[in-house]
Amino acid sequence: MSILFSEKTKTFHLYNQKISYIMTVLPNGHMGQLYFGKRIHHKEDFSCLLERQRRPMTACVFDDDSSFSLEHTRQEYGVYGTTDFRHPAVEILQEDGSRLSDFVYAGHEVTAGKPKLPGLPATYTEAQEEAETLVVRLKDAQTQMALEMFYTIFAEGGILTRSVRFTNEGKKNVQLTRAMSLCLDLPDCGYEWMQFSGAWARERHLKVRKLEQGIQAVDSIRGNSSHDHNPFIVLKRPTADEEQGEVMGFGLIYSGNFLAQAQVDTYDMTRVLLGIHPFHFSWKLEPGESFQTPEAVVVYTREGLGDMSRTFHRLYQRRLARGYWRDRERPILNNNWEATYFDFTEERLVEIAEKAKDCGVELFVLDDGWFGARRNDHAGLGDWYANRELLPHGIKGLAEKIEALGMKFGLWFEPEMVNGDSDLYRSHPDWILETPGRHASLGRHQYVLDFSRPEVVDHIHEQMSKILSEAKISYVKWDMNRSITECYSRALPADRQGEVFHRYILGVYDLYERLTSEFPHVLFESCASGGGRFDPGLLYYAPQGWASDDSDAVERLKIQHGTSFCYPVSSIGSHVSVVPNHQVFRETPLHTRANVAYFGTFGYELDLNKLTKEEQEEVKEQIRFMKQYRKLLQFGSFYRLSSPFEGDGNVTAWMAVSEDKREAVLGWYRILSHANPPLARLRLSGLDERLCYRITENGRERTGVYYGDELMNAGLITTEGVSGETAPGEKGGCDFDSRIFVLKAERSCLEGEE
Ligand code: DGJ
Repeated sequence: MSILFSEKTKTFHLYNQKISYIMTVLPNGHMGQLYFGKRIHHKEDFSCLLERQRRPMTACVFDDDSSFSLEHTRQEYGVYGTTDFRHPAVEILQEDGSRLSDFVYAGHEVTAGKPKLPGLPATYTEAQEEAETLVVRLKDAQTQMALEMFYTIFAEGGILTRSVRFTNEGKKNVQLTRAMSLCLDLPDCGYEWMQFSGAWARERHLKVRKLEQGIQAVDSIRGNSSHDHNPFIVLKRPTADEEQGEVMGFGLIYSGNFLAQAQVDTYDMTRVLLGIHPFHFSWKLEPGESFQTPEAVVVYTREGLGDMSRTFHRLYQRRLARGYWRDRERPILNNNWEATYFDFTEERLVEIAEKAKDCGVELFVLDDGWFGARRNDHAGLGDWYANRELLPHGIKGLAEKIEALGMKFGLWFEPEMVNGDSDLYRSHPDWILETPGRHASLGRHQYVLDFSRPEVVDHIHEQMSKILSEAKISYVKWDMNRSITECYSRALPADRQGEVFHRYILGVYDLYERLTSEFPHVLFESCASGGGRFDPGLLYYAPQGWASDDSDAVERLKIQHGTSFCYPVSSIGSHVSVVPNHQVFRETPLHTRANVAYFGTFGYELDLNKLTKEEQEEVKEQIRFMKQYRKLLQFGSFYRLSSPFEGDGNVTAWMAVSEDKREAVLGWYRILSHANPPLARLRLSGLDERLCYRITENGRERTGVYYGDELMNAGLITTEGVSGETAPGEKGGCDFDSRIFVLKAERSCLEGEE
């Protein structure tokens, strides 16, 4: 990996073994983009890549040079209004009402490693050799605004991160009204756009469309990254698939309002913009003040979607997530939410926990309903002390009982919210986000606390910290169950109201930072009505997130498959729940519910006492299996073999392969059973071609051994065992069936077999 600069041509070349990123200082002093893609040879002069084609008279040009118009020039951080008519990366409102800026190259530095972003989550290095960072400094002479553009290239993988920082070095105030984290101009538009969208209980479904002239975008203006869209998009060549082809993934390490957009212009150039949503955003910069954008991550590969995902997984798992739990196998938990909802007593909880322990569960989690006057979702949020009617011995007493059973104890919070019926609201009604004189809308009967105010964050911190210090708590589920409306902070002046959404998220990050530093051994799981804030920003603090409130095994196939494009299995909260399922009322077999949940953090969301003895034995077996293979499942390399979004979507298959490729677990899921089904083979991936594997299917060994190359080319036969006419005593597959295959390498090819 290296970052080279040619003084003569004013050209930068950032490269590692996989990628090259080349940019140059343009004739007007702005930064121009020349190339981003597979690694190419270095040379001093890449000016041939700068297209200076004369365009018809509609083009406005710089300095009467008809071959140089910003509209037709690929830039690093485009501005609007000075011959470029595409959506810009930046806009700054100045005191005279002007919005133009002219950021001209002023210098640069290259440093080893990667600097931290103050107050914001970001990828990091543990050793300086892991990455190099380039800071390009630019200056707008009229406003004296300084712009620093940060580029980090990692030594491993086709990974580049970007962010920018503005500093007002002038004497007048300015308002930043648009400050994207990334602007990337690509020379063509021959891509398919992939987004991961949906709704509550239907998060991160894959949607694909062809890029066309015009704008395609996903965004959130809800205050959280949202169920609707995820701050992650992919551009892929139409022929690219899981195993090959050119793919670029773009992720934003942020949890609030965002915009991810691709604009294809008249000449088929594509501009990708990624950052804080400019709508409802402005940030006042007084002389001497700075603004740092969140970080954007770009992954480039020629080896298909699978390689892109595994690159994101490694980066987010090892160099975004932090702390004690980062590399540790996640405890198998039992959460009481779907088991009891609000209807519990200490006695009932202990009963559930006892059975969980008996089955091998390691962590018991008490969900919503334990605090203040909370008996349903109309009251109590904001009052983080135990409801003694329900829990006579408090959280401390309950935690002790759970620990005495030989399990860890975890607790639910929703720190950012308050109910009107709470002590907190009664004493600080002005602490909510609401616009003066306007109606304050409710969401799930609650208001959003104004986390842009440090005193509000301090108060919640004090309460949470007290409980976490007093009781033996090993896990925190941090929920967030409504979006922000009437966004306005009473603590900020009129000209800073555009800052509230971002300041809110900075407040959330601040509380996370404080709690995770004070309680480094506590495992944090993020949640927002399921997956409403399942984003890389929160992964920095909470290494796992509740992926969705939809716990039905069939629905989860799409949710977890979509999630896996960017996020590692170790981050995907997934549990076995009761049937009929509470969201879709479907009855799926217990083995399928577990087989899906294995590709996640794994746990149970039910009262195991209510299962039959036979089912309880099955659960014990599931837990034994997960304990044996969770390291591989959660931290191995993940492969998507069959997609629920393709064809009729009937079969999904995933696979986790160990680092040395000697072990793999394959999950095969089939939604509807068909009589007399066609022959079926599944091509595996990620194995060692030369290794010989033994295979067990649902615990039973298949006869023979199989070479890796055979399994990856000829495939594994998965044809259903019955044709629709079962022989007496034979049991066929059912709807919502699934199988788990375990592959273990027995030996390498013997001589003469090659
Ligand atoms: C929404 C979460 O996603 C659920 O798992 C549960 O914690 C409820 N909130 C509790 O109110």
